[in-house]
Amino acid sequence: MLCGNFALLEGYFRKNMQSSLDIQYTQPSYKHGLEEVNGEESFLKPSTDDINGKQPPYKPGLEGIAVTESSISYIDGHKGILEYRGIKIDELAKKENSNFVETVYLLIWGKLPIKEELNYFRTQILNAREINDKIQGMMRCFPDNGHPMHALQTSVGALSLFHPLHPLNEEAEVEIREAVVQLLAKIPTMVAGFHRLREGNNPIKPKNDLDYAANFLYMLTGGKPDNLEAQIMDICLMLHAEHTINASTFSALVTASTLTDPYTVITSAVGTLGGRRHGGANEEVLKMLENIDSVDNVRPYVEKCISRSQRIMGFGHRVYKVKDPRAKILQGLAEELFYLKGQDPYYKIAIELEKVVEEKLGEKGIYANVDFYSGLVYRKLGIPTDLFTPVFFHSNNTQLKKST
Ligand SMILES: CC(C)(COP(=O)(O)OP(=O)(O)OC[C@H]1O[C@@H](n2cnc3c(N)ncnc32)[C@H](O)[C@@H]1OP(=O)(O)O)[C@@H](O)C(=O)NCCC(=O)NCCS
Repeated sequence: MLCGNFALLEGYFRKNMQSSLDIQYTQPSYKHGLEEVNGEESFLKPSTDDINGKQPPYKPGLEGIAVTESSISYIDGHKGILEYRGIKIDELAKKENSNFVETVYLLIWGKLPIKEELNYFRTQILNAREINDKIQGMMRCFPDNGHPMHALQTSVGALSLFHPLHPLNEEAEVEIREAVVQLLAKIPTMVAGFHRLREGNNPIKPKNDLDYAANFLYMLTGGKPDNLEAQIMDICLMLHAEHTINASTFSALVTASTLTDPYTVITSAVGTLGGRRHGGANEEVLKMLENIDSVDNVRPYVEKCISRSQRIMGFGHRVYKVKDPRAKILQGLAEELFYLKGQDPYYKIAIELEKVVEEKLGEKGIYANVDFYSGLVYRKLGIPTDLFTPVFFHSNNTQLKKST
């Protein structure tokens, strides 16, 4: 999802700041209009509506409130459609030679690159993959049992110390592009590096002849992935690259509106993505499948959750009221992987769970979301469970260009 965050900033500053971001508190119930975020006057002030006693109603979850306009992606939650710049995600995933870096280019610059443009962008990323010794030294001090999302958040925050930026403004386009490249390039190195360090191993340097997805698996496991593994990793990154104004993108938007630097914007998005109702759900899905343990236990588990009003992880979505199109693609990838590399004992439980949840909760519009099958795929690729969300974040960085 890293990619989705990158898409946010660039156009955001070009179009100037939004004039009003509302912050709601439940206790006591005040409404604050952030009237001006572009300078000294960015303090909370009562809005004109408050003064006239005509306060707009509180909308839980900002439901129905547009926070920005964007041509980057489009979702039809009832038809189960996700498009990046007008291209359906399933078409993009199937397209010959498509890959994550090309998808990032499409999301950020609004068109598929020609060969030279793609090569230039890939080379920029390739050349920026290594991380500074001091950042690596800092990561060596992280506790081995710390969560990788916290390690990632701290490491991304530290990048701003090594790539100082002037306060962002409408002329910041060049600096934002530089930050896009730095973050895209370095996040996989930092995620893999933290994992190696906590296992007592030295980080592995990026390998120049490997592309983005394959190189990540190599830095993580020390083994060169085969073509199928590399391709599936690539598609997973593409699927997570962008998703309109989800919670982490919204965080990024709010942080960007203060005109801080892009690294800080992405740091706030990492923090938001870590929550178990957002990116953290894929990790919870595997724990849940392990906990259910057998196909026979599925129905009683679902019934127990419903009777206790407990959420079943990997199901339900704020926008999709049918099966998430990405879940369909991920399920196909999971089947392909299991067919060629051996079954996963939890896949049968997952299939049964999806069937029973659809039967019981389908009429409420609760179906499998992107996180339901992604964990099974990641695990088969050798990615440890607690790295699932950081991996999800690799790709969701185009939020830096949202709102073009
Ligand atoms: C993603 C999520 C936060 C979206 O929630 P939402 O659209 O705001 O839906 P609400 O929280 O308003 O819930 C609507 C109803 O559906 C139920 N519901 C929503 N998701 C559910 C789930 N996963 N399992 C069981 N019931 C669920 C709620 O309990 C609620 O029931 P009620 O009307 O009887 O009170 C929610 O579906 C969820 O928590 N899912 C599990 C976590 C997950 O997989 N997250 C990854 C998202 S990609």
